[in-house]
Amino acid sequence: MDVSLETHQSYIGQPASALPTPALVISKPVLESNVKKLHEDIDTLGIGFRPHVKTLKSIETTRIMLANGRYKKIVASTLCEIRGCLPLVKEGILDECLYGLPIRPSVLADLDKFTSQYGLKIVLMVDHSDHIRILEEFNTRTGRTTPWPVFIKVDVGTKRAGIQNSSSRLDEVIQSANESEGVSIHGFYCHAGHSYASKSTEDAVKVLNDEINGVLIAAKKLIDPKTELVLSIGATPTAHVVSNLKASLPKNTQLELHAGNFPANDLQQVATGLVSLSDQAVRVVAEVCSVYPERNEALINAGVLALTKETSSFAGLARWTDGIDWSIVRVSQEHGIFGWVGDDAKREKVEEKFKIGQKVLLYTQHACITSAMFHAFYVVDKQDIVRETWVPWKGW
Ligand SMILES: Cc1ncc(COP(=O)(O)O)c(C=O)c1O
Repeated sequence: MDVSLETHQSYIGQPASALPTPALVISKPVLESNVKKLHEDIDTLGIGFRPHVKTLKSIETTRIMLANGRYKKIVASTLCEIRGCLPLVKEGILDECLYGLPIRPSVLADLDKFTSQYGLKIVLMVDHSDHIRILEEFNTRTGRTTPWPVFIKVDVGTKRAGIQNSSSRLDEVIQSANESEGVSIHGFYCHAGHSYASKSTEDAVKVLNDEINGVLIAAKKLIDPKTELVLSIGATPTAHVVSNLKASLPKNTQLELHAGNFPANDLQQVATGLVSLSDQAVRVVAEVCSVYPERNEALINAGVLALTKETSSFAGLARWTDGIDWSIVRVSQEHGIFGWVGDDAKREKVEEKFKIGQKVLLYTQHACITSAMFHAFYVVDKQDIVRETWVPWKGW
C-alpha cells in the first residue's frame, strides 16, 4: 500500500521538502490562477464551458473548475471519474456529464443509472452508425424511453476519435442519428489534440479556427433552425488562446469550450510557448540517491512510474525546478538519472549541485499522466507548505 494513503494528513503544516518521496505536489495558488484566467476568458466571450476531469481526477479540482456551480457541465473519460463526481450532483453543482469516449455496449447500463438514480444528465459521443443501433437496442431491451443525447465527434486532424468532414460516413452518422428515436443530437464535438504541436499563439489560433470550422461545417449538414445545437471545441493549448476567438455562428448554435489540463499545466504546455514555467501547478518531489562525478550524473528515486515517459521539445522526462538545465535523461521503473542538458560552456558540476539525501522538485512533461500515478496529492501554498491533501479517484 502506498505510504501516502495512510499518512498524508499528517504532513499538513509541513514543507514540501519533508514529504515521503516520490510525492506529487500541487500549488493551489498557481492552480487557482490558471483556472481563474480561463474562466475570465470564457465569461468575456460569453460562451459555455465544460472542463474535463481527467487531469487531477479529484473532487476538489472539479469543484474549482466548475467555480462551485457557476458552470455545471463536465466531460469525463472513465466511469470511475463520473462516480467520483456524483457528490457534486447531490450538492447541485453539477448537472451534465459527457462520457468522452465513443460509446460501447458494456458501459450503457452504468451510464443509464447515473441519470435514473442520481439525476445526472449523460451525453454520449458517437462517430459510427453502429453506435446509434447499439443505443436503440439498449432502449428496446431495457425499456428506456428517453433518447440519449449525443455529440457527433468530428476529427479536425488529431486522428483519434471522430470522422473528418470530408468523409461521407459523417453524413451517414448524422442521418442515422437524425432519424433515430433512440438518440437526440446534442451537438458536434471536436478535440484538437494536435494543438499540442503549437509553438506560438499564431499556431494555436490557427488550430482554434480549424476547430470552429470543423464543427460548423458538420453542423451545417444538419442545420435546421428549430434544432438547438451545442458546438464544443477545445484542448488546453487552444483554450489558452480562446480570447482570440472571432466566429459568427448560426442562431441555433451555442459555442462551448472544453479543456482538461489547464489547471495544472506542464512542460508540454510550456513547450507550446503559451504559458511559462511558473504557470505549472504540478511538481514531483524526489530524493537524490547517489551522485556520479565521473559521468556528471545523479540518481533519484523517481523513475517511469513517478514521472512517465512522455516527452516534449524539452529534452528528457522531467526538469529540476531549481536548475532547468538539469533534466531526467533516462529512467527505469523506480530510478531517474539527472544529466546536464544546457550549454556546454555553462556546464555545472553534479557534485556541486546534488548531495545524497537532497530533496529535489521536478516539473513533469505531462501532468495528467504523472498525477494518475499518485494515491494522494499534497496541496501547498505560496511558500510550499502543505495546507491540504486530496485523494484522487483511481482505476476505471
Ligand atoms: C474528449 C476530450 N475532451 C477534452 C479533453 C481535454 O483536453 P486537454 O487536456 O488538452 O485540455 C480531452 C483530453 O484528452 C478529451 O479526450
